[in-house]
Amino acid sequence: MAFAAGYYAYYELGNGSSIQQEYEHEVAAMEASRKAAAPALTFPDMTHLNVALKSGERIGAGKIVFQGKCISCHGDHGQGIIGPNLTDDYWIHGDGKPESIANTIHDGVSAKGMPPWNTLLSDEEIYSVTAYVKSLRGTNPPGAKAAQGELVKE
Ligand code: HEC
Repeated sequence: MAFAAGYYAYYELGNGSSIQQEYEHEVAAMEASRKAAAPALTFPDMTHLNVALKSGERIGAGKIVFQGKCISCHGDHGQGIIGPNLTDDYWIHGDGKPESIANTIHDGVSAKGMPPWNTLLSDEEIYSVTAYVKSLRGTNPPGAKAAQGELVKE
């Protein structure tokens, strides 16, 4: 008890920096080192995207997202309505690679009527729907919209 009282007197009443100040200093230092150590948040995370591309389950999950959020503009088979045909080898944005598709879905093209999905879908959902879009390539659905953009052979 005597020790505790002295300790209290020294830190809280004396000249030593208060426990509260010490604590705040520690927390600030820990926070700074944590930020320095944290990897930059990148999108798309290729490791995660590649997992989705190879998983039938994730392609299935992407199909559900597509049916819920994308068919009004891209058609129920990705054949294109207001939005472009997603089943052909022609791309307006990027080169048809999964990372390009994921980026377009993530950021959207607001000026052209493609909404950004980054606030409505998680990154993992975007990877799933990207995998589903990739799976549509070459499916040649009936009523497909005429090609738009550049022919890209991957
Ligand atoms: C409100 C209509 C609308 C909705 C909903 C929509 N899109 Fe789009 N999307 C567009 C339009 C329009 C474009 C073409 C943009 C342009 O011309 O630059 C587009 C472009 C794209 C492209 C790029 C195509 C290319 O040729 O480069 C992809 C990929 C895409 N959309 C995927 C999706 C996915 C996945 C969803 C659902 C999560 C979705 N879109 C929902 C309208 C829509």
